[in-house]
Amino acid sequence: MGALAGRVVVVTGASSGIGAATARACSAAGMHVVLVARREDRLREVAASCEAIGARAHPVALDVAQPGASDDILARANSAFGRVDVVFANAGYGTRAGLVDMSEHDLRTMFEVNFFSALSLCRAAARQWIAAAQPGHLIMSSSCIGKFPLAYHGAYCATKASQAMACAALRAELQDHRIAVSSVHPITTRTEFFVESDRRSGADGSTAEVPDHAPSFLVQSPERVAAAVVQCMRRPVPEVWTSSLVRLSAALFTAWPWLLHRVLDQQAGTERRQDQRRQRGVPNDRE
Ligand SMILES: NC(=O)c1ccc[n+]([C@@H]2O[C@H](COP(=O)([O-])OP(=O)(O)OC[C@H]3O[C@@H](n4cnc5c(N)ncnc54)[C@H](OP(=O)(O)O)[C@@H]3O)[C@@H](O)[C@H]2O)c1
Repeated sequence: MGALAGRVVVVTGASSGIGAATARACSAAGMHVVLVARREDRLREVAASCEAIGARAHPVALDVAQPGASDDILARANSAFGRVDVVFANAGYGTRAGLVDMSEHDLRTMFEVNFFSALSLCRAAARQWIAAAQPGHLIMSSSCIGKFPLAYHGAYCATKASQAMACAALRAELQDHRIAVSSVHPITTRTEFFVESDRRSGADGSTAEVPDHAPSFLVQSPERVAAAVVQCMRRPVPEVWTSSLVRLSAALFTAWPWLLHRVLDQQAGTERRQDQRRQRGVPNDRE
């Protein structure tokens, strides 16, 4: 897409974390932003911070999983700005639950929000661009654990792996239409993600910004991810990674699956021991 000034970006999940940071980074790059999430008050705060940087910002308060949401988002973006150039499908959440224990409803709802809503918005934008013979850029917020799983986070990993797969196929399908497609693979990022994940996992009241076992060198700020996403908008690449170490680990896990399964067995054991301590009321130290 080259120069970003004057371009219009739709950011879902813009009311906090990576989405809010990316909206501000896009504003600093001269873009205009359409901010999508459910919490209207938070969207208005982010919109004000984008406008303070000099951008035009248009909040759209809705649930991305509601029927017709994608068409609604694009219609409201088009009516506010007359065009859309970039879509950052970022809205999503995680939960800590075994794949057998998780209810069918929770499993399907997570896929609706994390995967189907993101894909639906990207498909709708691509159709619009193809019809208008206009270039564009689709970006999905996947995860490093869309490339290798974690035990007790299997459903979340599956939604993120689905995003990565869809992006890779879409990129090849859309290249003749001058539509770029990228997936983003952040590592642990300091946002409201883990508070929300704890809430959904029945650990209400948690205020942990990151899991207590996460080593500091594997934790990053949402601004770090936002900078990488904006760099990708300038120069589209198929995959955005924000840690070379984790990217290398993902490659090693693909090359030597036995290594992945050994690490997974250890991680699953650690999680089970932590659960047992929690049930006995013993605080979890770092392992
Ligand atoms: N934090 C990490 O460690 C990490 C690592 C890798 C990838 N990611 C991915 O990055 C993305 C952003 O997460 P984050 O870390 O920035 O977490 P966050 O601070 O919790 O932000 C999640 C955003 O998604 C929005 N959202 C959730 N469900 C929605 C729905 N049904 N409809 C509309 N908006 C919805 C939330 O807004 P409302 O609640 O206002 O609707 C919020 O703006 C997610 O897709 C996540 O999977 C995060």
